[in-house]
Amino acid sequence: MAVGNLQGKVAVITGGSSGIGAATARALAAEGMDLVLAARRADRLTAVAQSIRAMGRRVETVEIDVAAPNASNALLDAAERAFGRFDVVFANAGYGMERAHHDTPESDLRHMFEVNFFASTDLITQAAKRLIAADRKGHLLMCSSCLAKFTLPYYGAYAATKAAQGMMCRAMRFELEPHGIEVSSVHPVTTVTEFFEQSAARSGLHASDRKVPDHAPKFFVQPPERVAKAIVRCLHRPRSEVWTSLAVRLAAGFITAFPGLFDGACRREAARSRMAHQRAKGH
Ligand SMILES: NC(=O)c1ccc[n+]([C@@H]2O[C@H](COP(=O)([O-])OP(=O)(O)OC[C@H]3O[C@@H](n4cnc5c(N)ncnc54)[C@H](OP(=O)(O)O)[C@@H]3O)[C@@H](O)[C@H]2O)c1
Repeated sequence: MAVGNLQGKVAVITGGSSGIGAATARALAAEGMDLVLAARRADRLTAVAQSIRAMGRRVETVEIDVAAPNASNALLDAAERAFGRFDVVFANAGYGMERAHHDTPESDLRHMFEVNFFASTDLITQAAKRLIAADRKGHLLMCSSCLAKFTLPYYGAYAATKAAQGMMCRAMRFELEPHGIEVSSVHPVTTVTEFFEQSAARSGLHASDRKVPDHAPKFFVQPPERVAKAIVRCLHRPRSEVWTSLAVRLAAGFITAFPGLFDGACRREAARSRMAHQRAKGH
C-alpha cells in the first residue's frame, strides 16, 4: 500500500551528498516531502540541503558513516527528533570497485559488504521495527543495481553486494506487507555520478575521464534524475523492483536463462579491465 500523498511526509536518504541520493532528495522535495540526508562529507550535504531549502522544504543533515556501529538508529533518531516521524527510507549509500577478486584483499571485500549490504539491510530493518511498533505505514527502498542480476568480470564483489540487497528486499517485501510497509529495490543502469571516479580511485585505476566508463553503450547512460523520477513513481505506485531501462531488465532475464550467450561480452570486458590495470601499474 502506497504511503499516499507525499506532501508533508518525511524521507530519510543515505548517500544524500551526491549522485542518485541528491537527485532523489530534490525530486522528493519537489513532491512536498521534508528530508533527512546522511553521508560522510558535511560540505556536500550542506550544499544539497541548501538547494532543498531553496525549494521551500525542511532538511536535516546527518554526517555519518553508514557502516559505523549503531549508525542506522542514530540516523532514525535524528529523523524522529527533527520531524517526529519518517515515512520513506532510501538506503542508497554505496560504492563500487573494479578489481579482479584474486587481487582484492579480504578486508576490502568485507568493507564493501559492510557498506553496501549490511548497512542498508540494517537501516531498513531498524526502520521497519520502528514503523511496526508505531503502527505506521512506510516505504523502504535500497539502491541495488542492474548488476544484481548478472555480473561483469572485475565487478564480482560489487555485483555480489547488489544481488544480496535485491534478494533481501524481495523477501522483506512479503514479510512486511501485512504491516502496511512497502519494500522495493532500485536497479539503475550506468548513471552519471561520482560513482565511477570513486570506484576507479579505490581500484588503483586512473581517475581521469572515468565519470562514466568509456565502454558503456551511450544509450544506457542516464542522469541521476532519471533514477529519482522512477523512485517517485514507485512511491506513488509501489512495486517490487524499480528499473530505468526495460532493455537492460530484459537482457538481465535473458542472461540469467542463458549465461553462456554473455561469455563473449564478459571476455571482452575482462581484457579491457586487465589492460586498464596494467596501464595504471605502468606496464
Ligand atoms: N552510478 C551508477 O552507474 C550506479 C548504477 C547502479 C547502482 N548504483 C548505486 O547507486 C548508489 C548511489 O551511488 P551514485 O551512483 O549516486 O554514486 P555517488 O555519487 O558516488 O554517491 C554515493 C553516495 O554514497 C555515500 N557513501 C558512500 N559510502 C558511504 C559511507 N560509508 N557512509 C555514508 N555514506 C556513504 C557518498 O557520500 P559521502 O562520500 O559524502 O559519504 C555518496 O553520497 C550506490 O549504492 C551505487 O551502488 C550506481
